[in-house]
Amino acid sequence: MNIAPSINKIDLKLRQARQDDIPALARLIEVSVRGLGGRDYNPQQIESALKYIFGVDTRLIIEDGTYYVVEMDGYIVGAGGWSRRKTLYGGDQAKGEAEDNLLDPHRDPAKIRAFYVHPDWARQGIGRQMMSACQAAASRAGFTRLELLATLTGAPLYAACGFKEVERVEVNLPDGVLLPTIKMTKTLC
Ligand SMILES: CC(C)(COP(=O)(O)OP(=O)(O)OC[C@H]1O[C@@H](n2cnc3c(N)ncnc32)[C@H](O)[C@@H]1OP(=O)(O)O)[C@@H](O)C(=O)NCCC(=O)NCCS
Repeated sequence: MNIAPSINKIDLKLRQARQDDIPALARLIEVSVRGLGGRDYNPQQIESALKYIFGVDTRLIIEDGTYYVVEMDGYIVGAGGWSRRKTLYGGDQAKGEAEDNLLDPHRDPAKIRAFYVHPDWARQGIGRQMMSACQAAASRAGFTRLELLATLTGAPLYAACGFKEVERVEVNLPDGVLLPTIKMTKTLC
């Protein structure tokens, strides 16, 4: 029987992601999506999404400082961030050469980006903790609204954090695989 370890919350440390975290983040993303995505997506959808969409957006780490990791005993068990740029989803492999222009906090919603938790540490409040950090930072930067594209796996977390569904979006991956997702928004108080 696989019993999820229980977390002593004071052992969890949230910090800004660093460039030298990137290899560990790439591994976390694969383990997270393969381990937790299976209840919502078939293996082909998972592998195609890992190939074309799910990945590290290094700009959030290196240039913007808006991506966070949660560590437990020195191991990264969760990662997630926000963005002051237009891109709504996707790692470096999804962006190509396209520019990723800055948003206007007075007019545009900040984006919530790339939340991943290690399957052994799911449902222990790590996702919620990362969302609190993102909301606080986006609010400090002057944003009053948030927007994200949720996987079906992520939607319950975002709903629990006060996001509302705007529309269902089927992302058409380059190999023809369709990935059902949900666009969600939240107004910050
Ligand atoms: C989405 C994800 C980041 C959630 O992380 P998490 O740390 O497990 O979430 P939390 O423990 O903070 O959950 C907070 C609340 O969200 C809701 N929630 C989270 N996961 C849920 C699930 N599988 N089923 C139902 N509700 C869920 C619950 O209300 C939960 O509160 P509770 O545990 O007290 O009932 C994680 O499932 C994951 O990494 N999924 C795979 C990658 C992915 O699809 N990421 C989303 C990209 S948009």
